[in-house]
Amino acid sequence: MHRAPGADHQIAAPQSSLSSTALHQIDAPLPRSYVDCVLDLTEVQPAGIDRFPLRKPIPPARLDALSREIIALKKKLNAIILAHNYQVPEIQDVADYVGDSLGLSQQAAKTDAEVIVFCGVHFMAETAKILNPHKLVILPDKDAGCSLEQSCPAPKLKALQDTNSNFYTIAYINCSADVKALSDVICTSGNAVKIVNASPKDRDLLFVPDENLGAWVMEQTHRPMTLWRGNCYAHVEFTHASIMRIRGEFPDAPVVAHPECTKAVRMLADEICSTEKMVGYCKKTPAKQIIIATENCRCNECRFMKMNTLEKLHDCMADRSPSVELSPELIARARLPIERMLQISALPNQD
Ligand code: 13P
Ligand code: SF4
Repeated sequence: MHRAPGADHQIAAPQSSLSSTALHQIDAPLPRSYVDCVLDLTEVQPAGIDRFPLRKPIPPARLDALSREIIALKKKLNAIILAHNYQVPEIQDVADYVGDSLGLSQQAAKTDAEVIVFCGVHFMAETAKILNPHKLVILPDKDAGCSLEQSCPAPKLKALQDTNSNFYTIAYINCSADVKALSDVICTSGNAVKIVNASPKDRDLLFVPDENLGAWVMEQTHRPMTLWRGNCYAHVEFTHASIMRIRGEFPDAPVVAHPECTKAVRMLADEICSTEKMVGYCKKTPAKQIIIATENCRCNECRFMKMNTLEKLHDCMADRSPSVELSPELIARARLPIERMLQISALPNQD
């Protein structure tokens, strides 16, 4: 996760089995690779009537030549650039909106741009296409997948569903369009508790494909669910031992973990939330040091998210390709559970 420097917090990344422990001092001069780890608390979208406003454009003078070309292409195509929080800083800098999966879907649902340029992974761009069947949706790298999506092939899900006609299938958005089309409702990490709470009481809940998110939601809602045995290869790299070690090093730092982390990690966390809520948490906490357990910087990055580069972003806009193409029949089936999610998500919170 990245936001540019400019705040007075320190972000500590727990050691994963892929990496070494890192502490990032924000107000000191930073080596380039460290800058990527820092949340820019000055760029957090403010809470207001529109919780998901577009960003103010970065002044062209602050951008390099390639970025300026991307901005020019954006104007020419009447395009919007949507970027996930895990995208590299230079992509975030040219994006109209940076956020989590929920915010990105909401943004995709309401845009009037003719072309959507999606900088994230494939299932995210696919979701934008399902919500905008008549628009061109392009992405920098078509091969940017997701281990959760891969863990749940639609025919296997269908076979499980056939064993119980009372299943009500809740699919985490990190899944293919075919899996969405088999589901009753979609959720993201930002709204999963709300979606499960809103699910019919007389149905057997089946949660796919992330067993860790599913287990966390069960703890929050006390709704029993059958869990698909999938997980995010990057988040399960964090271990109980690595969090204990970094907590020992920074005893005053709260631990903020993504719900895709295992129970052994979640039980050590002070806050468990989506990437966008992490940005909000870091903004509000009086703590000067924060331990973040999610995809972040060079310590534990998602190899799929990091397949996107500024060059590929430029080329996909210049070529209007690769684009997401789905059959109208699949779009029609996959759209209903996404729309159900957006409707439930827009309801006022009960608490
Ligand atoms: P968010 O819902 O926080 O955007 O997370 C998506 C994701 O892929 C996490 O690995
Ligand atoms: Fe998928 Fe994990 Fe990458 Fe998120 S971080 S896109 S869940 S592989």
